Amino acid sequence: MATTLKINGEQKTVDVPADMPLLWVLRDVLGLTGTKFGCGIAQCGACTVHIDGKPVRSCVLPASAVRDRPITTIEGVGATDAGAKVQKAWLDLEVIQCGYCQSGQIMSAAALLASTPNPDDSDIDAAMAGNICRCGTYVRIRAAIKQAAGRRS
Ligand code: FES
Ligand code: FES
Repeated sequence: MATTLKINGEQKTVDVPADMPLLWVLRDVLGLTGTKFGCGIAQCGACTVHIDGKPVRSCVLPASAVRDRPITTIEGVGATDAGAKVQKAWLDLEVIQCGYCQSGQIMSAAALLASTPNPDDSDIDAAMAGNICRCGTYVRIRAAIKQAAGRRS
């Protein structure tokens, strides 16, 4: 089934089954491998992308359900104001360890800052609760979100 997706500002037409998850389309069809597969059941956040600027789990979202809606992936989020600030803070504070979860972490953090430019700890907890890091980088993630928001932790 031909489906046209709007990814990082570009139109992409793919011929995939209607129920194929967006994550599969991004990684296996379009080669956008920055978005990661972790659990496949919407429990870890590794596959987080933005649809209409909101964070979603692409492993459980059929690509056909999001046709013609703006999709942003880790490859494109740096072009947004919030995404650029988050990525800079991530680098400044050396948040990353193994890196596997970090695309999803950055996508959730960027969506948080776009909707809540000055988040408090409870805002951060609520926004980031679904993103798991087996390396335990949570303290640096919190500090980086605060730096990206323009204040020190
Ligand atoms: S791979 Fe989608 S939430 Fe874990
Ligand atoms: S940095 Fe390794 S899983 Fe998060």
